[in-house]
Amino acid sequence: MSDPGGDSTPRAAHLRLEELVLGLVARFRAASLHYGHGTDNAEDEAWYLALATLGLPFDRDWREHDVTPAERQAIEAMAERRIRERLPVAYLFGEAWFCGLPFEVNGHTLIPRSPVSELIEAGFHPWIDPERVRSVADVGTGSGCIAIATALAMPDVRVFATDVSPEALVVAARNVARHGVANQVTLLQGDLLNPLPEGLRLDVVVANLPYVPATELDDLPAEYRHEPRLALDGGGADGLTLVDSLLHQCRTRLAAGGLLVCEVGDGMDRFEARYPRLPVTWVEFENGGDGVFVLEAAALARLGAG
Ligand SMILES: C[S@@+](CC[C@H](N)C(=O)[O-])C[C@H]1O[C@@H](n2cnc3c(N)ncnc32)[C@H](O)[C@@H]1O
Repeated sequence: MSDPGGDSTPRAAHLRLEELVLGLVARFRAASLHYGHGTDNAEDEAWYLALATLGLPFDRDWREHDVTPAERQAIEAMAERRIRERLPVAYLFGEAWFCGLPFEVNGHTLIPRSPVSELIEAGFHPWIDPERVRSVADVGTGSGCIAIATALAMPDVRVFATDVSPEALVVAARNVARHGVANQVTLLQGDLLNPLPEGLRLDVVVANLPYVPATELDDLPAEYRHEPRLALDGGGADGLTLVDSLLHQCRTRLAAGGLLVCEVGDGMDRFEARYPRLPVTWVEFENGGDGVFVLEAAALARLGAG
């Protein structure tokens, strides 16, 4: 008698998804994979890969899900690539999540992971009154994730997103269309804030620019070598070259009462040493992450004093 569900596979050939995932966890650990592109441990990575392969939503419990032999084969094939090529899961599927939203990614765009997402969801409160924010710049937009999430969180805001990489901007444009925010987000190619209209004064400038010190680039785990060099390298010997230039641009580009939100990752100490008198606040994130400072426009007047 044929299977009324349409799947004629014998019951014994099925496997619970949890069993399959536990096997992946063991293989990921044995292969010493590096995490940091959406997850931070082998178990979450294995679930991420398995659910993404099956196209199942992440917000449900799939432990008891019956895996067919075809599904198992598909998951194993993806796991094999994850291990052999050290390819981050987001690149395997061409999609990453940021602020609860899906974004297309490819080898021309960094995989979104900035803790700044938490500030975006709060409309940058309490660092600035969200009601007074009309214009935001996202400097080094990559996939467009920060610009697009900001536009969706703050529907009355205009967002200007820049990047030096034309290839990244092609992906960002597809993400802008996908999320229906073309009326709010303007993508511009060029260096830092230079491509923005001359007289425009910004209420918020957000930047997640390359900040890996040049000497550390070659020591990054293999997973990072799949990301565009332009997204990691550019900060010079101490990782802060682009941030230096941006600080100076913000002196004239931020509106009175405006705010700079800037990620420097593990460059916090180097930044403090370079700018001992700049009254930045290092944001404490509820969901983890660090290395992001906020700075009010008025404080930038102290830049000349170091
Ligand atoms: C660390 S990635 C961040 C991408 C995205 N904002 C995110 O958080 O996922 C840095 C981005 O800055 C871009 N970039 C590098 N130098 C730049 C510059 N001088 N001006 C504008 N963008 C730059 C890179 O092409 C890359 O897309």
